[in-house]
Amino acid sequence: MTLDKKYYITTPIYYVNGDPHMGHVYTTLACDFMARFKRLDGYDVHFLTGTDEHGLKVKQEADKLGITPQEFTDQVSQKFQDVLPRMNISNNDFIRTTDERHKAACQALWKKLEAAGDIYLDKYAGWYAVRDEAYYGLDELTAGPDKDTMIAPSGAECKWVEEESYFFRLSNYTDKLLEFYEAHPEFIGPNSSLKEVKAFVAQEGGLKDLSISRTTFDWGVPVPGNDKHVMYVWIDALTNYISALGYPDEDAPLFSKFWPADVHMVGKEITRFHCVYWPAFLMSAGIALPKTVFANGWWVVEGEKMSKSLGNVITPDTLIERYGVDASRYVLMSLIPFGNDGNFAHDLAVHKINNDLANGLGNLAQRTLSMVQKNCEAQVPAVSAFNDEDNALLDKAHKETIETVRSKMDAFKYHEALQEIWRLVNMANGYIDAQAPWGLKKTDPERMAVVLYTLIETIRCLAIMVQSIMPESAAKILDQLAVPEDQRGFIHLSEEYALKSGTALPKPEGVFPRLELEEEAA
Ligand code: MSP
Repeated sequence: MTLDKKYYITTPIYYVNGDPHMGHVYTTLACDFMARFKRLDGYDVHFLTGTDEHGLKVKQEADKLGITPQEFTDQVSQKFQDVLPRMNISNNDFIRTTDERHKAACQALWKKLEAAGDIYLDKYAGWYAVRDEAYYGLDELTAGPDKDTMIAPSGAECKWVEEESYFFRLSNYTDKLLEFYEAHPEFIGPNSSLKEVKAFVAQEGGLKDLSISRTTFDWGVPVPGNDKHVMYVWIDALTNYISALGYPDEDAPLFSKFWPADVHMVGKEITRFHCVYWPAFLMSAGIALPKTVFANGWWVVEGEKMSKSLGNVITPDTLIERYGVDASRYVLMSLIPFGNDGNFAHDLAVHKINNDLANGLGNLAQRTLSMVQKNCEAQVPAVSAFNDEDNALLDKAHKETIETVRSKMDAFKYHEALQEIWRLVNMANGYIDAQAPWGLKKTDPERMAVVLYTLIETIRCLAIMVQSIMPESAAKILDQLAVPEDQRGFIHLSEEYALKSGTALPKPEGVFPRLELEEEAA
């Protein structure tokens, strides 16, 4: 039997109307953590991210700066691309909605929807928010600063707009979507998002048809056969997930291998687009639906929503400069349960880093490796017999931890997956204190060797497991243990690949520095 070991994961594509900040990096990182995890677990992974570059807002920003929308979007998209290597993101591709491959895919998809009888031309009149690129119903709005302006639930200003528009027969899909959610409860996570989406689709009177073109600006993908219209940004944006795989060529190697996606990771505010509109478009076009859409929550900073006007926007560079790449990655994924909203505060971050990294894993590795260096001639020590305590730790390191971590990762419980790994860190730190190898040097050097061996073998497994969250630090630890580069996958956690006695070990160096809170606060 061959296992279906391939995995396709996507981030939302980010709007280019602002610079990348911690919130964007968070979703991207959540995908990177999973992508690296799956690769280490033997999967062939395709990991996509990109930028969403059309729409009136982009045109307006470009006009303000006196440059073309293309020039503007080239600049901002580049900033999003530059962040990726800085955060050690392992994406396989970067899609831009201004790529020719993407525009062609959008037009092909449009024609499919049209051929299915799901597109018609009509007039649209309604309250439109440029900021959200969305129309709102009157029941969702509150009065604005003047009679021509209303305020959307998102806080965006809405103006009354009347235009000719193409519509998608979303109303045809109410029952089909509800049946689909019923049959595939794993399609939407977490549960709070599933409930919200279901309630929206099950609204009284069912889903309303969706306006999917605009005539009031031209910075978009032209509607095939009617250049007066450009496509609504969301039909354009959502198509990125397949255009990057070579759609409309359904035999393209990437499309045939990786579609349907295993997961679209999205912020919780855009589940409606991913769990209602996108599956309806795909059903209409006869294309398979993604397996899961998982929504992450929103970060606020020191209790406040991040905003330019408050001046509290945390950029990826702020994080990297303060904490380093790996600790930033760790802290973002471990501070709060994935799917929940969270408050980012520097004192919480410093505490977490010191506790788990400097005092936890770092201290374990540093003190063990220094003892081996000093007392075992800088070699993996020779082992005689393991006792029950040694075996309990080794079993957890070789088998038990990864099994639990794997099931937590598959359920997007990132925070619990990390907690499980740190259970092993704590167990190893408890073991070292109980065994007190420093006292054994004189009294029982053979036992000291066994204890130190048990510890460095546990550290080998820990380092293999933390590679997906802290790739650089994990690699340093694995180098210090002289683990060959081709023996660092999860398959190599097993005893079969255990450290070999007599292997020479390089001089250890600390991997996780302790942070000073005072200095951070200053
Ligand atoms: N362009 C659309 C998505 C199209 S996908 C086909 C969009 N872009 S966005 O630039 O506004 O970024 C959206 C994503 O960034 C959110 O869905 C979320 O994943 C992430 N975040 C932005 N700010 C965030 C926080 N403050 N906290 C957590 N994630 C946040 O919507």
